[in-house]
Amino acid sequence: MFDLTGRTALVTGAGQSVGAGIARCLAAQGAHVVVNDIVAGRAESVAQGIRTAGGSSSVSRFDVTDPESVADGFAAAGAIDILVNNAGNAGAHTFAPKPFVEMEPDEYARFLDVNLHGVLHCSRAALPGMYERGRGRIITISSGAGTTGNRMGISLYGAGKGGAIAFMRHLAMESAAMGVTANSLALGLMANTAGGAHTERLAKSIPVGRLGTPDDVGAACVWLASDEASWVTGKTITLDGGSITT
Ligand SMILES: NC(=O)c1ccc[n+]([C@@H]2O[C@H](COP(=O)([O-])OP(=O)(O)OC[C@H]3O[C@@H](n4cnc5c(N)ncnc54)[C@H](O)[C@@H]3O)[C@@H](O)[C@H]2O)c1
Repeated sequence: MFDLTGRTALVTGAGQSVGAGIARCLAAQGAHVVVNDIVAGRAESVAQGIRTAGGSSSVSRFDVTDPESVADGFAAAGAIDILVNNAGNAGAHTFAPKPFVEMEPDEYARFLDVNLHGVLHCSRAALPGMYERGRGRIITISSGAGTTGNRMGISLYGAGKGGAIAFMRHLAMESAAMGVTANSLALGLMANTAGGAHTERLAKSIPVGRLGTPDDVGAACVWLASDEASWVTGKTITLDGGSITT
């Protein structure tokens, strides 16, 4: 079960943290993994690590927020069976939480560009080939911030993540007859962003007693990417150790 031999996966923003873990898990199940990142050196290092571990991997450096760069990156990568839209947070910007009322309109784009438009651009680039081959998997890495409100000052991030979840639901309906599934994973707090009083408090409230790891997300991606998950589409699956505190 969950054998991905012969499949090619492209994981965006896979040069570190969650994306790197997803790339490693897909490769461990036999997929050829195209590691994308806006920072070429990060992508090279993850791809090299996969090859050293006996897997198959290459790099496609592009910026998911730039449709031309995305189209060139997909053209260079070849046929993609599995797309994981992982690039997110504030993209190339620092993620600085701020109450909405203090934000200027020109600050919205840093969250919407990567978390929503990046998903649109990459899905648009991947779909024609998937339709042609009659199969495909699109998985979008979202967040509890896209499904639940909180007071952390991340409303625009939540808007981008929630928008992508809604888009995936519609895409799932449009593409189901062509053998393509589209699902979202809504993550809780991951270990790589822990730190500070607020996240410490959140971490203590997680019922399973620990923060999320890249392997937790990678395992869910392996399942959704597999033939065995062909009956799962249009869903948002929460991975959060039991709860998301608002
Ligand atoms: N870390 C968390 O606690 C958490 C919680 C919920 C959801 N998420 C989501 O999980 C995903 C991964 O988060 P993370 O914390 O592992 O990310 P991260 O910030 O550690 O790494 C993201 C990678 O994406 C790359 N990147 C940024 N902008 C890009 C662009 N425009 N094009 C291509 N690559 C780009 C970065 O260079 C970086 O290597 C994101 O979608 C994030 O929103 C994370």
